[in-house]
Order: sequence, then structure tokens, then C-alpha cells
Amino acid sequence: MKTLELTSKIFEYEREELPHEVAMLLAKAEDAAKRAYSPYSRFQVGAAILLNNGVVVTGSNQENAVYPCGLCAERTAAFSASAQYPEVPFSKIAITAINPDEPLSMPVSPCGSCRQVLYEYEQKFNQPIEVILSGQTGPIYILRCVADLLPYTFHAGFLP
Ligand code: THU
Repeated sequence: MKTLELTSKIFEYEREELPHEVAMLLAKAEDAAKRAYSPYSRFQVGAAILLNNGVVVTGSNQENAVYPCGLCAERTAAFSASAQYPEVPFSKIAITAINPDEPLSMPVSPCGSCRQVLYEYEQKFNQPIEVILSGQTGPIYILRCVADLLPYTFHAGFLP
């Protein structure tokens, strides 16, 4: 019997020790979260993607009265970035959220569908996308790549 190495690699930072570029990107994600359309959950999520060309594309969660029609902040940002700049790799993504009832004191964790979507762009450009996760207070988590968030992933190589 062998053990598969599936553990995520998460680096924990204090807010004050974040590199300047990361702090700037996170501030844009925080701004984006305030533009969420989330009348049903009231949970506001913001994502900011830094592209290799220096452009930052943001997104927030967009809900709908038909609940499954809504979309997470991360995918709103990723699809928007890819639609506007189809040939430009993603360098980093910062993600944060606002809980209106009680400030989030731990970093938000992207859902499985968003991890899958981000992984696709990491593969497409063969370049790691650094992932920065934050709550409203507390530590910031940084992962070197999306693959560290989604081990043993389904990918295009499985398809005929
Ligand atoms: N949501 C996101 O936008 N990103 C996440 O990583 C987790 C969840 C949104 C979806 C929905 O609008 C609300 O948060 C509650 O699940």
C-alpha cells in the first residue's frame, strides 16, 4: 500500500507582512466584494485577478431568484478576464468575503467549481496562479498554485 501525497500547501501571513503587490490586489478584491449582488445569501465575495500584462480584473458573486443561476465571485472574475484577454495568463488571484452578520476571521475557501475553473486557466497557460485567501480579519493564506487547492484533478487529458 502506498500513500498518495495530496496535502495542500498553505502559507500563513499576517496582514502587515504581505508583499505590496499582494496587499494591493487584496484591496481590489475587498472593493469588489462590496459590489456583490447577493440579496439571498447576503454573503459578499470579491475576487481580483492580476494578469501577466498588469491588468487587474475583478468579480463579485452574482445571485439570482433561481438560485443555481447565480455565479461565484471567482468564476465571474475568471470568465471576465479570459473573455477580455484570452491570450494573457493569470498571475495571481486574491479572494475575500464579507459576512454581514459576523466578521469573517478566517480566510474564505473557494468552492470546488471555482477551483476547477481556475485550474483550467493554470493548465491552459502552463503557469502557476498564486492564490491569496482572506477573511475580514485574521490571517491571510497564500498558495503557490491552484493545483495545491485541487489535488488529483479532472483535466482535459482524460477526455477523448
Ligand atoms: N460564493 C462565492 O462567490 N465564492 C466562494 O468561494 C464561496 C461562495 C458565493 C456564492 C453565493 O452567492 C454566496 O457566496 C453564498 O454561497
